[in-house]
Amino acid sequence: MRLIHFCSAWLLLVFIPRGCHGGNILVLPAEGSHWINMDILLEALHSGGHNITVVRSNKSWYIKEKSSYYNTYTVQVERNLDQEFITKIIFDYIKFERGAIPLTSFLNTAVGMIGTIVDVHSTVGELVSAILDDKELMRILQDSKFDLVLTDPSWGHGVILAKYLNLPLVYNVRWLIAGEAHLAIAPSPLSYVPITGSGHTDQMTFLQRVKNVLLQLINLIQNQVVVKLVYQKLCDKYLGSDIDFNQLMLDADIWLMRVDFVFEFPRPTMPNVVYMGGFQCKPAKPLPEHLEEFVQSSGEHGVIIMSLGTFVSELPSDMANEIAATFAKLPQKVIWRYKGDRPATLGNNTLIVDWMPQNDLLGHPKIKLFVAHGGTNGVQEALYHGVPVVGLPLFFDQFDNLLRLKERGAAKLLTIQTVDKDNNFQDAIQEVLNEPSYRLNMQRLSRLHRDQPMKPLDTALFWIEFVMRHKGAAHLRTESYRLPWYSYHSVDVVLFLAGAVLLVLFTFVFFIRCLCTKICRSKVKRE
Ligand SMILES: *[C@@H]1O[C@H](CO)[C@@H](O)[C@H](O)[C@H]1NC(C)=O
Ligand SMILES: *[C@@H]1O[C@H](CO)[C@@H](O)[C@H](O)[C@H]1NC(C)=O
Ligand SMILES: *[C@@H]1O[C@H](CO)[C@@H](O)[C@H](O)[C@H]1NC(C)=O
Repeated sequence: MRLIHFCSAWLLLVFIPRGCHGGNILVLPAEGSHWINMDILLEALHSGGHNITVVRSNKSWYIKEKSSYYNTYTVQVERNLDQEFITKIIFDYIKFERGAIPLTSFLNTAVGMIGTIVDVHSTVGELVSAILDDKELMRILQDSKFDLVLTDPSWGHGVILAKYLNLPLVYNVRWLIAGEAHLAIAPSPLSYVPITGSGHTDQMTFLQRVKNVLLQLINLIQNQVVVKLVYQKLCDKYLGSDIDFNQLMLDADIWLMRVDFVFEFPRPTMPNVVYMGGFQCKPAKPLPEHLEEFVQSSGEHGVIIMSLGTFVSELPSDMANEIAATFAKLPQKVIWRYKGDRPATLGNNTLIVDWMPQNDLLGHPKIKLFVAHGGTNGVQEALYHGVPVVGLPLFFDQFDNLLRLKERGAAKLLTIQTVDKDNNFQDAIQEVLNEPSYRLNMQRLSRLHRDQPMKPLDTALFWIEFVMRHKGAAHLRTESYRLPWYSYHSVDVVLFLAGAVLLVLFTFVFFIRCLCTKICRSKVKRE
């Protein structure tokens, strides 16, 4: 009897169709490191039984054409954001930063980047045209009955395509075209919400708040320039001139935000923003044999790992030599992900690799320290595994990411200008290795991060399936972005009310004066 019960329950469990098993998802990813975490999401969606289709260009850098968990359509383009393009920008940038005085460096990053940003987005624009002009591809896409578009809105192509195909839209997001995504969608008082690039925390002095506001203005200008020069033109051409790209961008159903408030400063948010920070983190798998051997050979001293991310494959040779020389002096073993020429000063305790299983290494009990550039993926993985960080930020959000760890006592920060001077690098490493508070703080963050009702990746999958089940999530979207700025801030209402009060006051004063003159006159008459 029991057994029969058990069997029928089991059968029920197996054969009841899940809410939206087998959804059909169209993905328009951004290139470079943004693809790395999109890829993780796609693999999980595929395991959840969904059909994934990715549109890429024939010059895609990271996005492979063949995969076991997604299908691709490839369009032909002349240019793309590729290795050559990025390596050049980055190399110029590092050279510039090392020579620059702070003000010019600030202006360079803030204003001078505009040309580069427009250039990158022009290539995205060319990709949009290539997709939409391909009649055969568009017919296939229209016939494919997709349930939703999943995109990273740091590129605008997914937004335009979702509108063109009239599909619900889900973001895998932290950045929009210029600036952090919250700033566009949620109320963001600049008095305590630091702008990325400001290098500030949520406690700012007056002058820091001035800089914060200026930076936000520059972000808004950058955004407007890119939208005007690239995306609005595409909207006008393919969607009709009544469509405003900025509004379209904010019209997404769900924003899966790669943010975690263990890491980010607390700030206001919105009903359709879902937090999945750290979704890419998973328990460590065993290391390949040669790495495990190397790691074990470190004995009680343990291992340091260093990676400056996927964009930076090499450093100026004098800097690389200095870093290698510092490592050579340490009793620890070092695994350094580096693609440039082998530094002359490399010690025999340092292993240089093209690629390393970063997550598996960070989860290894012998790893004592992570020398990182501060990309979101690396910072989240270090946080997940509780490994303290020496940060060597280069650009974008990297300084600000590391700053958030530093504020919580879990990282030490260096700058590219001073890393190779006065033993800075060695001192930072010694301090983080020898001062237990760094590791304890990072482990506390790790415990906080893991203490959630649902794993971030499962949260993300739930909300993607939610959008498929309900054909969007319009009920969670606010109307805020349809309003002009003066209505949004109630400037018109304040002016109206102020006018009304003034009118009442004037009328009152006018009557008093009339009354006075009458009384005076009658007095004069009587006398
Ligand atoms: C999955 O998507 C591809 C590309 O759009 C399509 O050819 C295929 O028929 C789809 N498979 C299923 C099971 O829907
Ligand atoms: C991509 O397509 C363009 C335009 O057709 C062509 O010029 C280019 O050689 C192609 N690139 C690759 C890597 O296939
Ligand atoms: C590594 O170098 C140190 C000092 O240069 C030397 O004492 C040691 O024997 C070397 N170890 C190996 C495994 O070569």
